[in-house]
Amino acid sequence: MVEKQKVIMDCDPGHDDAFALMLAIQHLDVLGITTIGGNCSLENVTANALKILEVIERPDIGVYPGHSRPLSSELVTAPQFHGESGMDGPVLPEPKIKAQNTHAVDFIVETLKSTDDVIIIPTAPLTNIAAALNRAPEIASRIKEICLMGGSVTFGNWTPAAEFNIFVDPEAAYRVFNSGVPIKMAGVNFTRQCAITETHRDRIMMIPTKTAKFAAELIDFFMNASKEAAYLSVATLHDACAAAWVINSELVTSVPMRIDIELKGEYTRGMTVCDYRHLRCEDPEIDLSNHPTMKFRGRNPNAEGALRLDFTGFMGLLYETLRNYP
Ligand code: BDR
Ligand code: CA
Repeated sequence: MVEKQKVIMDCDPGHDDAFALMLAIQHLDVLGITTIGGNCSLENVTANALKILEVIERPDIGVYPGHSRPLSSELVTAPQFHGESGMDGPVLPEPKIKAQNTHAVDFIVETLKSTDDVIIIPTAPLTNIAAALNRAPEIASRIKEICLMGGSVTFGNWTPAAEFNIFVDPEAAYRVFNSGVPIKMAGVNFTRQCAITETHRDRIMMIPTKTAKFAAELIDFFMNASKEAAYLSVATLHDACAAAWVINSELVTSVPMRIDIELKGEYTRGMTVCDYRHLRCEDPEIDLSNHPTMKFRGRNPNAEGALRLDFTGFMGLLYETLRNYP
């Protein structure tokens, strides 16, 4: 049997974080879940992570609470999309399983020191990851890759220029993108292709598992909230795309690019400034990702920016996953 890829999930559940967790826990070897204040308070997102583990009956996975706010600014939350609890919709009892006493940053540092080839999948502001790199810079060379949901190759969602996760803690994102760790960026230019309609929701509801019912209830709330807050008629499963990318890289088309984080701009703070000019000066039919003569006009790439999602393939993976849970 092929060994599952070892990962740490760093998240702020979060409707779409819940989908990332459900996918990752079934298809990858999740060493632990670290939480971070983002969509909602640290306390709420930690409780939400524990509730998800109870629904899918995986109380063996540890949940490690991390930072409650960004490195150097105030926390911004997103109740208009995720409700007051951070995961409104499904009615669930208070979780019986408890969070670990170890801080998320300690867990990340210790795990990376003792375990080879770990991928980190952050689906929230990058505060915990940046704090871990600041605490123990030597872990950078131990991380196989960071496959994150955040940023955008094109426009933002929280501001015209910035996506929410990067906007909340741009200083942390700056630290991560300049760490030398191979980065994969599932930005909103790409994750918005993961748009769940009512038809998908109805198909999920027909899957006879309590996890599928939970998933459909998450979608119901998220779809309505997205309608009211952003005039969107779909539920966009941003975070699930980062997990899916690690599970099956064939679902994603990406290109290498230099990505810098804007820290100062009056209108652009938190923007991921993506240099992919090399794509514009060549024949678009040529797959430039492995092109031997590809020349970068700016600085060398530090990331893979996702451009296209095989959405049909993604939905197949999601349906299968929901069928195989209790
Ligand atoms: C990101 O922001 C959060 O609200 C979602 O959970 C996702 O991680 C999308 O911009
Ligand atoms: Ca999230």
